[in-house]
Amino acid sequence: MDELLKWRKEFPILDESVYMISNSLGAMPRAVYDSLREYADTWNHRGVRAWDEGWWEMAVAVGDLVGRIIGAGPEEVSTHQNVTLAEAIVFSSLPRDKRRNKVVYSELNFPSVRYFYQAQEGIEIVATPCPDGITAPLEPLLEAIDERTLAVPISHVIFKSAYLQDVKPIIEKAHSVGAYVILDTYQSCGAVPFDVQELGADFVIGGSVKWLCGGPGVAYLWVNPQVRDRLQPRLTGWMAHEHPFEFLPQMEYSRSGFRFLNGTPNVPALYAARCGYRIIGEIGVDRIRAKSVRMTERLIELALERGFRVNSPRDPARRGGTVSIQPPDAKRVSQELIRRGFLVDYRPGAGVRVAPHFYNTMEEVEATVEEMSRIAAEMAA
Ligand SMILES: Cc1ncc(COP(=O)(O)O)c(C=O)c1O
Repeated sequence: MDELLKWRKEFPILDESVYMISNSLGAMPRAVYDSLREYADTWNHRGVRAWDEGWWEMAVAVGDLVGRIIGAGPEEVSTHQNVTLAEAIVFSSLPRDKRRNKVVYSELNFPSVRYFYQAQEGIEIVATPCPDGITAPLEPLLEAIDERTLAVPISHVIFKSAYLQDVKPIIEKAHSVGAYVILDTYQSCGAVPFDVQELGADFVIGGSVKWLCGGPGVAYLWVNPQVRDRLQPRLTGWMAHEHPFEFLPQMEYSRSGFRFLNGTPNVPALYAARCGYRIIGEIGVDRIRAKSVRMTERLIELALERGFRVNSPRDPARRGGTVSIQPPDAKRVSQELIRRGFLVDYRPGAGVRVAPHFYNTMEEVEATVEEMSRIAAEMAA
């Protein structure tokens, strides 16, 4: 008996579709309805008192729910609107020096993160090549990181291929030359267990939308307490002040998780996001991962049996929760799958991304490849 299936009833969309897209938008927990009602009731009945009764603290209190999943201490995680903005806040906190102006990452880094760094003045970008489009080879990255490197913003799991990077050697190399590592765990958090203390990056950033089932509007940022107090974000605001309600003329950075905040938080999104975080925290990512590996193994086996190319690592230890499958005319196949109620997505160079989560059944996994194969055959006829 698959114990995790008892959670299915908490995700209404599972009754309406074969939901295989949790690497893009995790299914909505039923509890979000009540949580958003609570938000509206609070606003309506408590009015401005709501700030003192929880709203002000929420950007960090909800971060704590993620903190528990990733091994962070209390008040070490703050929440923001999205990964790109969290990346900008982090970058604004790094010391700037013309002699240290390199940013190093692999070509397979998520585009939004790349666009942000490309747009920064006075920064030299080194994007290391990934010739197979699946793996981000370690050697070129390690070689590119030197004394001139300021930041290494990398993904734990590559979004297109689900390649799970061995990030420890990258972090070690970066630290040996005084560079900061900003680890994007969007595609791992909630699907692949990790511990921020053990990895030792300077910053860990990710969002709610995918494996955490938290919906749009919330990203999390963990700042390693070993670097936190010496960093002063230039993208800042009153919430990051040690005494925000004294409205002082000068900034005095908070010494807690509030230090990396800026203005008023996205309160309704936090109400929605906490439901998914609680469920993932309650189940535990180790159990999710064990099941995910079984499902992705099966997906690969079935896809290969049908002669489809697989653009994700075969080694489960190097793979996140997604399998990218490339039938002929993958884009049209994915569109037809969606039309038939099999929710997946398509990414150029990756093919159809299939991403089962803890709430999926093995029958759904099998039916997805079966349907893909049927559609491919119909299109070829
Ligand atoms: C690895 C990774 N980073 C970042 C993002 C998106 O970030 P944002 O929250 O800025 O939209 C995604 C979304 O697909 C992603 O897969």
